[in-house]
Amino acid sequence: MEKIDYTEKVRNKINGDNLKYIVLTMGCKLNENDSEKISGMIELMGYSKTEEFENADLIVFNTCCVRENAEERLFGKLGEIKKMKEKKNVIIAIGGCMMQEKSMLDKIKQSYKYVDIVFGTHTLQDFPKDMYTAIVKNEKVKNVIDIDGEIIEGLPIKRSDKYRASVTIMYGCNNFCSYCIVPFVRGRERSRNPEDILNEIKGLALEGYKEITLLGQNVNSYGNDNFKYCELDVKSEINTFAKLLRAVNEIDGIEKIKFISPHPKDFKDDVIEAIRDCDKVSKLIHLPLQAGNSKVLKEMNRKYTKEEYLELVKKMREKIPNVYFSTDIIVGFPGETDEEFKDTLDVVEQVKYEQIFMFIYSIREGTVAAKRADQIPDNIKHERFDKLKALYESQVDKLNEKYIGTIQKIMIEGPSKNNQDMYTGRTDSNKVIVFKLTGNENIGDFVNIKISENHKWFLEGEIV
Ligand code: SAH
Ligand code: SF4
Ligand code: F3S
Repeated sequence: MEKIDYTEKVRNKINGDNLKYIVLTMGCKLNENDSEKISGMIELMGYSKTEEFENADLIVFNTCCVRENAEERLFGKLGEIKKMKEKKNVIIAIGGCMMQEKSMLDKIKQSYKYVDIVFGTHTLQDFPKDMYTAIVKNEKVKNVIDIDGEIIEGLPIKRSDKYRASVTIMYGCNNFCSYCIVPFVRGRERSRNPEDILNEIKGLALEGYKEITLLGQNVNSYGNDNFKYCELDVKSEINTFAKLLRAVNEIDGIEKIKFISPHPKDFKDDVIEAIRDCDKVSKLIHLPLQAGNSKVLKEMNRKYTKEEYLELVKKMREKIPNVYFSTDIIVGFPGETDEEFKDTLDVVEQVKYEQIFMFIYSIREGTVAAKRADQIPDNIKHERFDKLKALYESQVDKLNEKYIGTIQKIMIEGPSKNNQDMYTGRTDSNKVIVFKLTGNENIGDFVNIKISENHKWFLEGEIV
């Protein structure tokens, strides 16, 4: 059967109309990466990008549902846009994780009838066809499937940055942490063909990209699915995350490699050794703790204890010179007592994270933890959040001391927002550094900075 080129059909329909689009990304880095693919498809259809909602002829929401506040944001925005839709013929599309939840789909269908296109996480690649249906045939579109999608290679992509790029290496999650909705809306783990990943990164290097972030919900289980979801004709030798890191490290032109998120349970020695050996791999390891108490961890289905986590940190500190840690923590998981929460504070005291992403537990319908009767009252959750934040903030100054007098290799990201004379970049550990240019540098260059001052939330130094 001949394949219909919907992109071209839409382009012909809107031809010359100088139409504009905006994509609002509401979720994580994977969601951002999907938005870049959506933008790539839209630009091929002939739309150009705008930053202003009012100027847009096509508005796409790429939603997240990991916590409740994401929903409030979407419905707030949709309310505003209804008025716009009454005045001009703007196409409204909603996609992403939230659309994989039946209750949300029903709500959109019932209360937001003016939405033109609804699509899910497994049907991204159909966007040109959905647009064709909405624009040419003038019909409403609901394109969401429940089963795991295929891995689609070769979608156009409009990257949001010139030097840093994200590359998804696997889709989905198998872990079913008891609080988390992601495995329900993203399906099972599906590893991409390593050759496709490496070709994508080689292409990025040729385009001038310097920093690559490898993405997945559980990157260090890469390959555990035996590549059964991708077309891997010849068994590649690059069948683990450690081997993938080593292969990416060999690509000329790439200077920095990051990855997010790994899971502590899958941090085997081969991954630790690859991080140690690969000079381009960032030594800032994001090691999601979630909670410090072993009983809470068990109920979260995280598959490690407090002791095992701390042992892992110790082992990495011994094996990887200059290793740093960042983490995700949830406070107020159902049943968590004050005593148990103290274990979280204790781990934070001990590990001394460079960065902590702190979250208040949010009930997600359909998850195991949502069914529990012993939910924690909001005021206690907030108290714990404040305690954790205060502890972290009390550590920052001390953490910064280690940088004073050191030389940090960083990429010049651009002018500082707060001071016109200064430029900014980030250390390997993700600390913001401000400095003056000497006049011979360009944005995107890597330079060495000698750190002289600690301003708590940023450091200052000069190019040497
Ligand atoms: N796969 C990644 C992150 C997924 S979501 C990982 O396992 O680290 C990002 C973070 O959101 C999680 O690490 C967790 O800290 C937080 N999160 C997930 N579900 C949550 C919920 N129901 N309430 C509050 N925070 C949640
Ligand atoms: Fe959610 Fe756990 Fe999977 Fe991360 S590993 S996406 S927290 S289920
Ligand atoms: Fe949100 Fe989906 Fe990412 S739920 S955190 S956008 S995978």
